[in-house]
Amino acid sequence: MTQFTFDAPTVIRTKRDGGRLSDEAIDWVIDEYTRGGVGDEQMAALLMAIFLRGMDRGEIARWTAAMIASGEKMDFSDLRRSGRPLALVDKHSTGGVGDKITIPLIPVVAACGGAIPQAAGRGLGHTGGTLDKLESVSGFTAEISKDQIRQQLCEVGAAIFAAGQLAPADRKIYALRDITATTESLPLIASSIMSKKLAEGADALVLDVKVGSGAFLKSEAEAWDLARTMVGLGAAHGVPTRALLTDMACPLGRTVGNAVEVAESLEVLAGGGPADVVELTVALAREMVDLAGLDGKDPAQTLRDGTAMDSFRALVAAQGGDLDQPLPIGAHSETVIAPTGGTMGDIDALAVGHAVWRLGAGRASSGERVQHGAGLRIHRRPGEPVASGEALFTLYTDNPARIGPAMAELDGAWSVGDTSPAARPLIIDRIGTGLEQR
Ligand code: URA
Repeated sequence: MTQFTFDAPTVIRTKRDGGRLSDEAIDWVIDEYTRGGVGDEQMAALLMAIFLRGMDRGEIARWTAAMIASGEKMDFSDLRRSGRPLALVDKHSTGGVGDKITIPLIPVVAACGGAIPQAAGRGLGHTGGTLDKLESVSGFTAEISKDQIRQQLCEVGAAIFAAGQLAPADRKIYALRDITATTESLPLIASSIMSKKLAEGADALVLDVKVGSGAFLKSEAEAWDLARTMVGLGAAHGVPTRALLTDMACPLGRTVGNAVEVAESLEVLAGGGPADVVELTVALAREMVDLAGLDGKDPAQTLRDGTAMDSFRALVAAQGGDLDQPLPIGAHSETVIAPTGGTMGDIDALAVGHAVWRLGAGRASSGERVQHGAGLRIHRRPGEPVASGEALFTLYTDNPARIGPAMAELDGAWSVGDTSPAARPLIIDRIGTGLEQR
């Protein structure tokens, strides 16, 4: 049997110079990094080399498998509800601005009879994370045991948890990417998402792949390639996977941040909320319900009849959260006023994401605490009428020194004019259905 010996500088140099990483080199570097034998500085250099040089499909598949193998895989196939196996299905987004969709979506699908084992993430770069948002609910914890996850899947229909022992290599690499400007990489995004999702024990998966300035991959062609790669990884592991390609040129909804996004999600669960958030929640829920074989359930109805709200309350209570406590809001605020009347033009999602990150909603160093009350409210969305002197945006933070840099990020990110911006579809394509447009 051949013995392979590796060292980090050689692996880094291979990728830095545009070479291909062998299966053995990938297995070695992921395993050593997880166990601490390869240092953060070496992994950071390798991530930058991957960012600049890319990986082929074979390398991505092996990198994903090695990250799955770095931890345990969950298996819920023995669980039963009313004597029947659970309809285990999950969703993941590639990351956006104002993307709070997981929060209303999970209870909608649970109310339709699905069981959702959701391994969720924290903020990454300019995008928010479901865990940072939900932890703004007083008492809510995502650090729950495997036994509790199993119990919740049977009794509540969902559990939202920190990936923990699932793909621990991703947990370390994700945090490192966040502070080394190596997030916007197709191989790193695809392997990060699919390692967690394939380890968490869902039988089917729906992906929300973002396109536009607020997405990590900006062009439709790159997003399409990312979607195909992830759908392929799912299929290779026997997990039916579909993706929706959705617009992220403009933030989703009217709030961006942590607690403000939870508040907006509660509006959606109460049957109201912004039209785009409702549309995307229902579209993703329909894909999940369909893939899970939950015939006859209408996700939109669960928002109207309150059953999705009931599911959310049960989920949050099971994880220690108290929705009757007020959600935090930054102690300092600043409002952007319309200089003139007219129609709101496009709002640049990337600039808004950066502004909210500067307000304290995200991290600049690993392990930093986020401000749950930091965020931004969008009072006028693209195409809405604007009167001179009225509020367009309100910014919130606990640290007034953060307001200036956040306001600077918004410079040039919006406009008020005479005409409406060109309408864009929210849902651009469906991939993995055989009906995609290319
Ligand atoms: N979500 C993840 O889990 N990983 C990424 O790289 C991007 C979004």
